[in-house]
Amino acid sequence: MKYKTLEDIDLHGKRILIRLDLNVPIKEGKVMSTARIDMSLPTIRKVSQAGGKVMLMSHLGRPTEGQFTKRYSLNLVADILSDCLGQNIPLIDDYLLNEPPLENGDVVLFENIRFNEGELENKESLSRQYASLCDVFVMDAFGAAHRTQSSTYGVGFFAKEVCAGPLLVAEIQALSRILKHPLRPMVSIVGGSKVSTKLVLLDNMMKRVDTLIPGGGIANTFLVASGIDVGNSVYEASLVEFSAKLIQSARELGKNILLPEDVVVADRLAADVSVAVKPVSDIGMGDMILDIGPKTCEKYRKVIQASQTIIWNGPLGVFEFEVFSQGTREIGQAIFDSNGYSVAGGGETLAAIEQNDLADGISCISTGGGAFLEFLESGTLPIFTMLEQSV
Ligand code: 3PG
Repeated sequence: MKYKTLEDIDLHGKRILIRLDLNVPIKEGKVMSTARIDMSLPTIRKVSQAGGKVMLMSHLGRPTEGQFTKRYSLNLVADILSDCLGQNIPLIDDYLLNEPPLENGDVVLFENIRFNEGELENKESLSRQYASLCDVFVMDAFGAAHRTQSSTYGVGFFAKEVCAGPLLVAEIQALSRILKHPLRPMVSIVGGSKVSTKLVLLDNMMKRVDTLIPGGGIANTFLVASGIDVGNSVYEASLVEFSAKLIQSARELGKNILLPEDVVVADRLAADVSVAVKPVSDIGMGDMILDIGPKTCEKYRKVIQASQTIIWNGPLGVFEFEVFSQGTREIGQAIFDSNGYSVAGGGETLAAIEQNDLADGISCISTGGGAFLEFLESGTLPIFTMLEQSV
């Protein structure tokens, strides 16, 4: 992979457009993890201190394109950035109509780029508009590096100069270590809410690892594929057959896919609901699986302890609710306690790490969720095509 970095470019006095991944988890108006913001700060400081006129852009969530929706505004992110950087970071929403007047060293944040029509489909006219705002485009959003959208990809074909940002470079280097020289045994824990997006990546992932531990809705889909009735639980019906094939090919390859033996269930997802621990064979019609049970925790803990490389992407239960947070906490703690090389990433995982104070025990924390999985699965990412053509 060949690409320019910030070191290759004179930033002084130039208009620098930086694509970050500031897609932070927000619950009830509160940012649950500032990790993606915190990890972007060195890049912002570096470009601003070099005398660049800094324009930051990011997506937040998945709003309907072409319309402003308050809950997807980056206003909370702008406030946190202002606090962290000790200066007011204005949130600009009309940047496509009026180029913001900036002095050297100034930093502004553009409103959620997914409000722009054409962003997701990588519309050329929008990519050109982004490019016209800057002298240099810096791609530093590792978390969105698997997206070929206007702000992550298209803009790079029209900007005068293009480079990879320091966070992106650092993440690629850390993950490449796992791809090139993995210590074995290697276990991958993949859970979280983006069930279908992640499930389809598990085919290749399974070939790289020795043991795969699916969590959340992904695990439920595997349970269904193995003939277990999951009651009212979330699972991906369209991927049951795919999961059954994965179980079959894991067997043929001598790999393990571990599934829950016991689970925490409730009749609805709420903080004050009464819960029960049940073996997976006893799940009732109205039950929703919302966490793994204690026997399962213990089984997974032993595998993690015995592994030399641990990949963690996505929580095991609905950890945002205290009653369903035990499984994720225990698995996180097992990774923290392990002597293996551990890499953890994804918005929800970062929040779980922060919530349980586990960061110091994880060898490499990645801002990427889907990007992290896709890179480990395929060994490349679409943005490299864009970065390489600009060298
Ligand atoms: C993520 O949270 O994985 C990234 O920010 C990408 O978000 P997306 O899946 O909505 O593109």
